[in-house]
Amino acid sequence: MKILVINGPNLNMLGKRPKEHYGVLTLDEINSLMLKNASNDTELRFYQSNYEGDIVTKIQESLSSIDGIIINPAAYTHTSVAIHDALEMFSGPIIEVHLSEVDSREDFRKVNFIRSVSTKTFAGKKEQSYIEALKYIEDILRK
Ligand code: DQA
Repeated sequence: MKILVINGPNLNMLGKRPKEHYGVLTLDEINSLMLKNASNDTELRFYQSNYEGDIVTKIQESLSSIDGIIINPAAYTHTSVAIHDALEMFSGPIIEVHLSEVDSREDFRKVNFIRSVSTKTFAGKKEQSYIEALKYIEDILRK
């Protein structure tokens, strides 16, 4: 099964961002951890961008070539109708991931354009949120 892992703006700066919310690992280290935890029959593809339109294009290009999407849209979670609309066209499972507990932080982070098109959300467990998302999506895709 092919799973696309999308990370949005500023997640390329992990390691330099507030550790109490985002932990200490870099994005490369999180990606490696996912690779280590992936099943033998899982093919992970990683994509990070700071640009909303590039994320939209990546989702469009993946609509028929990918079985599942794990996405941390970062700040675009709270602003992006465009990413919502692109994800809405995807027929497989979409797992929303956040390192921090987005729902109990500032009010502006409680606005969420991605939740309604997501199959499930994992948040607040730093890098473990990604691992839980990976296990969950593998289980769905295996059924
Ligand atoms: C984040 C939470 C967002 O509110 C924030 O803008 C991020 C990262 C998280 O993983 O906790 O950049 O998606």
